[in-house]
Amino acid sequence: MVKVSLPVVWVCVHCLAAVTPLAAAELPRLKDAFKDDFLVGTAISHDQLDGLDPKGIALAAEQFNAISPENCLKWEEVHPEPERYDFERADKYVEFGEKHKMFILGHTLVWHNQTPGWVFRDKEGKPPTRDALLERMREHIQTVVGRYKGRITGWDVVNEAVMPDGQMRKTKWLQIIGPDYLEKAYEFAHEADPNAELYYNDYNEWYPAMRKTVVKMVRDLKDKGCRIDAIGMQGHWGMDYPDLKEAEASIEAFAAAAGRVNITELDIATLPDPGRKRDADITRNYELRKELDPYADGYPDEMQQKLAGRYAEIFRLFVKHRDQIDRVTFWGVDDGVSWHNYWPVRGRTAYPLLFDRNRQPKPAFEAVIAVAKEEH
Ligand code: GLA
Repeated sequence: MVKVSLPVVWVCVHCLAAVTPLAAAELPRLKDAFKDDFLVGTAISHDQLDGLDPKGIALAAEQFNAISPENCLKWEEVHPEPERYDFERADKYVEFGEKHKMFILGHTLVWHNQTPGWVFRDKEGKPPTRDALLERMREHIQTVVGRYKGRITGWDVVNEAVMPDGQMRKTKWLQIIGPDYLEKAYEFAHEADPNAELYYNDYNEWYPAMRKTVVKMVRDLKDKGCRIDAIGMQGHWGMDYPDLKEAEASIEAFAAAAGRVNITELDIATLPDPGRKRDADITRNYELRKELDPYADGYPDEMQQKLAGRYAEIFRLFVKHRDQIDRVTFWGVDDGVSWHNYWPVRGRTAYPLLFDRNRQPKPAFEAVIAVAKEEH
């Protein structure tokens, strides 16, 4: 069994007093704490798959019972050139999940980001025809889903098709194929592995206009015969957003439309966002300035407690809706590997997760474990 090392100081979030550090064997596990509620997952990084972060991957195995591929199954990774697939890391990802008997997510098949430019160009460099792009999509989905048939439990088939204002995102998929690109993606994925669960995944889904469109889109797709098992809410959230009443309204609406909800990429932004966007648009990028990196020397205890309180209220909401939620997945194992260190500003020191850079549990970890122990 893999063991994690001990926290040096353990702070109780309720009494704010330092208490005796827990022995490794006593460190509660998220997957056990919520075993009657939902799976608790984490995203697995390239470094972890390449053997460069052995402590991080050991902690993943110890604490979590579901995994998501941070990048290794994205189009640009597995299918960088028209005639070339590269499954080296993806194979390791799936083997890791199987070894630890985890829920294994496939993420993601059809997205506008991290998809190589050649996908949307023909030999003359012009946009491909609708039929050519559909064929490319079919071939990609069937190759990737087919490779892991019966091994990957479920797929984020389409990622981020809707805008916060409720408009469909004008991606090249939509522009070249037309609105039925969604239907086709689900059809191809289902053909490739009829037993795999299929999901729709997005961010900012607490916005009422977006909620409405996602619900309508998923209902329409299901009416057309597409398999959709759940809607994924990414959960790239902040200290003061979303309003949890809005998040709750989306959980309820999505569960009614799709059957189930997954929280797929949970983390809490702890640093100032110069764009004040409250989104997860990975193309945003601002120059590093000192005032944008206020906690480069450490995260003050007061902020640790604030983060713990925020995580506690978020987990209370999830537990309240445990009959509708199958899986809650963090976007990364510890603060050191989080994308928040390089997005939307490169080179900052971020604190969005439950484990710190030394892979020690933070007050937010204890706060989340405490929610699992509350009467519910
Ligand atoms: C989105 C995607 C993820 C990841 C995050 C940022 O949420 O779905 O795959 O790229 O952005 O790390």
